[in-house]
Amino acid sequence: MKGARRARTALIEVRYSAIHGYGVFARRQIRKGTTILEYLGDRLTHSQADARYEQKESRDNHTFLFTVDSNTVIDAGVNGNEARYVNHGCDPNCESVKRGKRIFIEAIRTIRPGEELAYDYQIQRDADDPHDIDEIFSCRCGAPGCRGSMLVEREVKPRPTRAKRPQRPANGRGGRRG
Ligand SMILES: C[S@@+](CC[C@H](N)C(=O)[O-])C[C@H]1O[C@@H](n2cnc3c(N)ncnc32)[C@H](O)[C@@H]1O
Ligand SMILES: [Zn+2]
Repeated sequence: MKGARRARTALIEVRYSAIHGYGVFARRQIRKGTTILEYLGDRLTHSQADARYEQKESRDNHTFLFTVDSNTVIDAGVNGNEARYVNHGCDPNCESVKRGKRIFIEAIRTIRPGEELAYDYQIQRDADDPHDIDEIFSCRCGAPGCRGSMLVEREVKPRPTRAKRPQRPANGRGGRRG
């Protein structure tokens, strides 16, 4: 329309991903350091998350849970936003950042239009994991240096991460879910 200002193109869009299911893609260039999304959803205690996913099959690797700390889990499967569709990558262009009790997805390099957003889930390991846990959580990110697993590398210091299944963290540091 003549004289009308063009609406600014949205920063991201959700669509099918070659990695898994839906993914989040840049619609325009995103500069390094940009806070792209907040990871939103129901905020639960670990006990509440355990109860909510009590029936979840232990070999089901699909999770929208994000452990904030030893008290709080965000369940993006309920009241979540686009952040829940950001897939894991082993050579990611984003990272998850904890600010207070909130989690944000930020660009760690310049992201080109059309590029899929990804961050390293660093899903924590538990003592009672089955022997084939890396297979259950196998990674299909396609990066040349893909480590083959969405789980944290053993030597990496734990930080606020995704989780694989409801389970109260034994170490009190937050850690893993899913
Ligand atoms: C928060 S969801 C991400 C969105 C997901 N693609 C969807 O459509 O629901 C997280 C789940 O996506 C899958 N996923 C994400 N990144 C993956 C990857 N690099 N390789 C394999 N599966 C992945 C896993 O099942 C994981 O638990
Ligand atoms: Zn990978």
